[in-house]
Amino acid sequence: MIDNNRLLKPNRKLAKSARIKNMCEYQALQDEAIEDYEGFWGRFAKEKLDWIEPFNNVVDESNFPFVKWFDGGKLNVSSQCIDRHLKDKKNRASIIFEGDRGDKQIITYLELYYNVNRFANLLKEDFGIKKGDRVVIYMPMIPESAYAMLACARIGAIHSIVFGGFSAEALRDRIIDADASLVITADGAYRKGKPYMLKPVVDNALADGSCVKKVLVVERNNEDIDWVSGRDYSYNELIKEKAPTCEPEVMDSEDPLFLLYTSGSTGKPKGVQHNSAGYILWAQMTMEWVFDVKEDDTYWCTADIGWITGHTYIVYGPLAMGATTVMFEGVPTYPDAGRPWKMVEEYKINQFYTAPTAIRVLHKMGEDEPSKYDLSSLKVLGTVGEPIDPPAWKWYYEEVGDSKCAIVDTYWQTETGGHIVSPLPYATPIKPSCATLPLPGIMAEILDTDGDRVEVGEKGLMCVTRPWPSMIRGVWGDKDRFVKSYFGDVKKDGKAVYFTGDGALYDENGYITITGRTDDVINVSGHRMGTAEIESAIKKCDKVAEVAVVGRPHSIKGESIFAYIVMKGDDTLATEVELIKEINGYIKSEIGNIAICDEMAFVSGLPKTRSGKIMRRILRAIAKNEEITQDISTLEDPTVVEKINNIVNG
Ligand code: PRX
Repeated sequence: MIDNNRLLKPNRKLAKSARIKNMCEYQALQDEAIEDYEGFWGRFAKEKLDWIEPFNNVVDESNFPFVKWFDGGKLNVSSQCIDRHLKDKKNRASIIFEGDRGDKQIITYLELYYNVNRFANLLKEDFGIKKGDRVVIYMPMIPESAYAMLACARIGAIHSIVFGGFSAEALRDRIIDADASLVITADGAYRKGKPYMLKPVVDNALADGSCVKKVLVVERNNEDIDWVSGRDYSYNELIKEKAPTCEPEVMDSEDPLFLLYTSGSTGKPKGVQHNSAGYILWAQMTMEWVFDVKEDDTYWCTADIGWITGHTYIVYGPLAMGATTVMFEGVPTYPDAGRPWKMVEEYKINQFYTAPTAIRVLHKMGEDEPSKYDLSSLKVLGTVGEPIDPPAWKWYYEEVGDSKCAIVDTYWQTETGGHIVSPLPYATPIKPSCATLPLPGIMAEILDTDGDRVEVGEKGLMCVTRPWPSMIRGVWGDKDRFVKSYFGDVKKDGKAVYFTGDGALYDENGYITITGRTDDVINVSGHRMGTAEIESAIKKCDKVAEVAVVGRPHSIKGESIFAYIVMKGDDTLATEVELIKEINGYIKSEIGNIAICDEMAFVSGLPKTRSGKIMRRILRAIAKNEEITQDISTLEDPTVVEKINNIVNG
């Protein structure tokens, strides 16, 4: 039996050849960074990156929080990920692709080079895409998505991937905000053995002709699609003509690499901007340190490229270090909950990285499945995106990892570009559900609102007190929002620090446990969503007078979405089932299926202060069926609390 508080030591046998072998080595690196921050980062930037021209300066904080890393340096991220490996790895698999229905493709580094170059030439020649242009990618999990990303990087275009589960309206908002010149999509793909479609969503997003004028369509499932002549172009036709080489654009360290929209506490998603050198440096270093991927290893991250995990840990990180990365189109439970373990056995996967929701589903649907396969190739297991509960952690550790693999509970965000708090697999003693320590070079600290470090066991705010290379560089088109969202809340020694939006606490070992968001962001199956976004979708229904959305703990998804709704008029309860359907219809079309509410409570009023502020803490407590400890006497109408409680829990 694993004791939740006992530390489990790393596997000594595997540690011998690890990059960071023990806690002394970890501490030495962290001390080096503390003593000479610029020296530390400058050393790794020189060692790890292939520079076209060297940088002059490690970090320029003079215009904080608008910082510059490796100023004056020139490089190209696609060359870092491909060209430099051609010398001795050209026949090594760069990507192993497995389709939903079991079709397979192995793409060597040399093939990746040709495919990306052809794609880059296509973007330049047929669409006139040039450095700085924005390209939206709305694609399934197929190798062409990685080619598209790297082709943009090659020519200096800024990609903005929109997750394939977002609706036409959400896609359209992101296309408009980024002022994109092109959308790259596919007809569709396969899920659970059946085709599903993406192109019709793009058609709807562009229906009124007011935004992007060109669409490039990759064939995947060959289902019938509508074709707008003069707007839609076939990738499979155009690519045939393209030359397999394309000179990489010379990029400045701080030239933007990509935008990725994420939810915040207001209704409008933020276009998180990541730039070239700092991002790729940390993507590569964390691959090496946190997963300790070796020369002949095969690594699999199950995320979707539509999220930051897919960017950093399916495409950029693994390729920058010259690893073999597995890309999977399907879902882990199809055709059964043994699918991932079958793939681990078949490809001899060494590092496996997934979300706690997937672990919970695999545990529930296939508790004994891991024992049916040979999982002895596994060395490191990772989790990301949400807190992992001890039962899921234990099953993962014992049944999947055979109690010999380290579990790296990696804590980070879209904005941090890469991991910031995580165990190192062969150095850090681990314990269930704990992200442990800041990675070397990352000055992560839990502070209180006065900027003081919190005591052991006391909840505080998860902050990073010094800029680091892969941190967010801006919110696209909105400097103020960038400053206010991340640098407005906490000051340490009078200086603003980066606040993640998460709460956390220290244990007696100084280990960090993330306790969840402190803002109005909820995390459903590792998907981050703003309550304000969902509320504004619900308000599109003109029968709704008021709405407040909160998260409620859920055994599989981590959190589920719970909406309190006040209808206009009072004859609504008779038609509750239809109403729920109708309201979820608005959510589907404004955001997508991922934001559908699991539960709605139709109430007569919301708990508000006299100034009209909705008391969400009360609503959260009711949703969790917890005792209400807040003072409700100052509410505009204190009786609503009992009324709501009776409806929800009565
Ligand atoms: O609340 C934290 C949670 O996921 C949020 C970031 O979401 P997103 O930007 O979509 O990126 C997800 C993948 C990095 C964080 O603010 N989160 C992420 N990792 C963990 C986590 N919560 C607990 N433990 C983690 N390991």
